[in-house]
Amino acid sequence: MPLLIRNGEIVTADSRCRADIYIENETVTRIGQDLDAPPGTEVIDAAGKYVFPGFIDPHVHIYLPFMATFAKDTHETASIAALVGGTTTYIEMCCPSRLDDALAGYHLWKAKAEGNSACDYTFHMAVSKYADETESQLREIVRDGMSSFKIFLAYKNFFGVDDYEMYRTLTLARQLGVIVTAHCENAELVAQLQADLLAAGKTGPQWHEPSRPESVEAEGTHHFATFLENTGASGYVVHLSCEGALKAALAAKERGVKIRIESVVPHFLLDKTQAEQAGVDGMKYVMSPPLRDKRNQHVLWNALNAGLVDTVGTDHCPFDLAQKRLGEKKFTEIPNGIPGIEERVNLLFTYGVKKGRLDLHRFVDAAGTRAAKLFGLFPRKGTIAPGSDADLVVYDPNYNGIVSVANQHVNNDYNGFEGMTIEGRPSVVTVRGKVQVLDGKFVGEKGRGRLLKREPCP
Ligand code: URP
Ligand code: ZN
Ligand code: ZN
Repeated sequence: MPLLIRNGEIVTADSRCRADIYIENETVTRIGQDLDAPPGTEVIDAAGKYVFPGFIDPHVHIYLPFMATFAKDTHETASIAALVGGTTTYIEMCCPSRLDDALAGYHLWKAKAEGNSACDYTFHMAVSKYADETESQLREIVRDGMSSFKIFLAYKNFFGVDDYEMYRTLTLARQLGVIVTAHCENAELVAQLQADLLAAGKTGPQWHEPSRPESVEAEGTHHFATFLENTGASGYVVHLSCEGALKAALAAKERGVKIRIESVVPHFLLDKTQAEQAGVDGMKYVMSPPLRDKRNQHVLWNALNAGLVDTVGTDHCPFDLAQKRLGEKKFTEIPNGIPGIEERVNLLFTYGVKKGRLDLHRFVDAAGTRAAKLFGLFPRKGTIAPGSDADLVVYDPNYNGIVSVANQHVNNDYNGFEGMTIEGRPSVVTVRGKVQVLDGKFVGEKGRGRLLKREPCP
């Protein structure tokens, strides 16, 4: 059925106007004043609301075997949570470990998602080793439409690559025109610092941050950038958390290295004192890179508003309290990660746009458009224009609410942002022209999501 969204204020990364949007066959076909609604058209009145392009979360974990357990969400729960929060596309990290075969891992992740996601999705393909068969497998995966890789400099012996493997991955990526996303922490330093802290009897969650301090992330970022510089590959630093790492990335950019920067919502709003709480309350906030000293937050907000931090994702990775307690005796065994897919857009709008830290267009850009451009989804996703997929968020900037585990859709028993107020939320969310969310409730079709194939974009 065609859909007409009337009277909304359409805001994209670079434009703003009050107009109607007409949607047929999953696609925006017309934007204009006082558009007709032919018989049979579903009409939504968006007066007093913004209409944003559906947001894109460029970094999530859904299926994830990790740290002796599995992340909690299914593609159904995570995608419904994403949609309720205004995210209409996510990019999941496809993460086979060093013990697994890359191609088999890719087929496994695809099978887990297929038919189970309520919104569209695609994958960054992790390269966790560079064995004899790796190159031909990666070529096949890129031919299948996954035009971005992921490497981990951290997580020694599990996901982490060594310098030889990083070099080979970046060289291949350069040939294929594929961007490489990277978790940048020096794995050896982390391993040694962890061992020293545990040997000194420092076992609680408050020692997680000291085991991977800012300098370790800054070194990892500089290290990755140096490899980009010497291979000519394009890179993207994921979940950057602190000023030192930001300086390392920006210094590289200044000397011509092709490097982009993602940060994630927890680093703008939470700080290391959360993980210093006793027991499981601290464990809830163990993630890598760790939550940092609060002084980093204004640095990140300023860099985000200036466009130096390109995107804001979540690194959504839920573990419940029982799973977090796996690390009761040793902080090194607390599963790393925190959820956020549901809250990302509302928190950025509330604590960024409403607080005057983030320009409205930059918000749209950072939460969707720029990821679409970097990862080969634009202009199909990330904007509102004739020909684009009709992924739309009718957003109520006057809504007031409180984040709580009691009403979340993520499959977890706590919410890391519990009690925070939000001033704005999606009223209507569409995926390719079908209404999937109405006023905070999922009302749509659970398996609607499609795997998005992407061309390399050198
Ligand atoms: O703590 C985190 N970030 N967990 C998920 C895995 C990763 O490093 O992205
Ligand atoms: Zn990571
Ligand atoms: Zn991650």
